Amino acid sequence: MEIIRKITKCKLIVNDLKKKGCKIGFVPTMGFLHEGHLSLIRMAKKDCDRVFISIFINPTQFGPGEDFKNYPRDIRRDSSLAEKEGVDYMFYPTVKEMYGSDHKTVAEVKELGNIMCGKYRPGHFAGVTTVVLKLFNIVKAGKAYFGQKDYQQMIIIKRMVEDLNLDIEIVSGPTVREKDGLALSSRNKYLSAEERKNATILYECLILAKDMIEKGEKDLEKIKKIIMVKLKGNRFVKNIDYFEFRDPRTLEDRKRVNKDYKNILAAIALWIGKTRLIDNMIIKV
Ligand code: PAJ
Repeated sequence: MEIIRKITKCKLIVNDLKKKGCKIGFVPTMGFLHEGHLSLIRMAKKDCDRVFISIFINPTQFGPGEDFKNYPRDIRRDSSLAEKEGVDYMFYPTVKEMYGSDHKTVAEVKELGNIMCGKYRPGHFAGVTTVVLKLFNIVKAGKAYFGQKDYQQMIIIKRMVEDLNLDIEIVSGPTVREKDGLALSSRNKYLSAEERKNATILYECLILAKDMIEKGEKDLEKIKKIIMVKLKGNRFVKNIDYFEFRDPRTLEDRKRVNKDYKNILAAIALWIGKTRLIDNMIIKV
């Protein structure tokens, strides 16, 4: 595996591979790799001739007071994991390399970036789409892989690709979970042992919603209320940003199950102590 630190070098390699007719797959990450990231890498390995990953903790997607400085980093471990999975190139730029000293352009997907997580993290998705667009222009892959764990992010990136006519296919991979249901996340590292035990509450709430919908409950507001009671009863849950039902494609709010719906997205974001966790599930109606 080759580690690339410069944009010009990356573009040269990419252009060369494209001339040779190689299909390039790309998995953008912020590092501290876990099985969730690795599952996307494996999908890319299956589909493509060469696999690129990027490791870049993108400052513009963190708000003031968020965990940019403390975000877990372990580049040695990441490179050995990536190498074991057969990644061909790891793009690992500095902040200066990506943003220089006079970066002024922002790519923003309107509306979709201001709801759900966007409401609680203003500017977050504009930071994500800007860096992802830059990465797409540097790596120029045919396919890029994103996890359903960050469902809203995946939808927003698909929207950007469509709206800006980008020549890239967005492939999504299922959420990888611990045995007890907790979705893997680099941020799980922040949890104390007791917090970790209680963090399963996100998954439990999603399963509860799924069970109620599958048993025929149509009133989504009623399910929401029941879930709020459960969340408020857990002393490790410090703040509930949201528990919402949405249309899985448009992210429109859903209040009742309608017979025309095939699926409903249930999404949750809350704080366990000082750690913000998110999760979601697509529920078949
Ligand atoms: P990061 O949180 O490192 O995630 C990188 C990719 O891994 C994302 O597509 C994310 O959805 C996926 N992923 C994370 N946890 C997962 C899990 N448990 N199962 C399956 N996939 C999972 O998302 C970002 O980085 C950044 O916002 C980025 C897109 C790189 C832009 O900076």
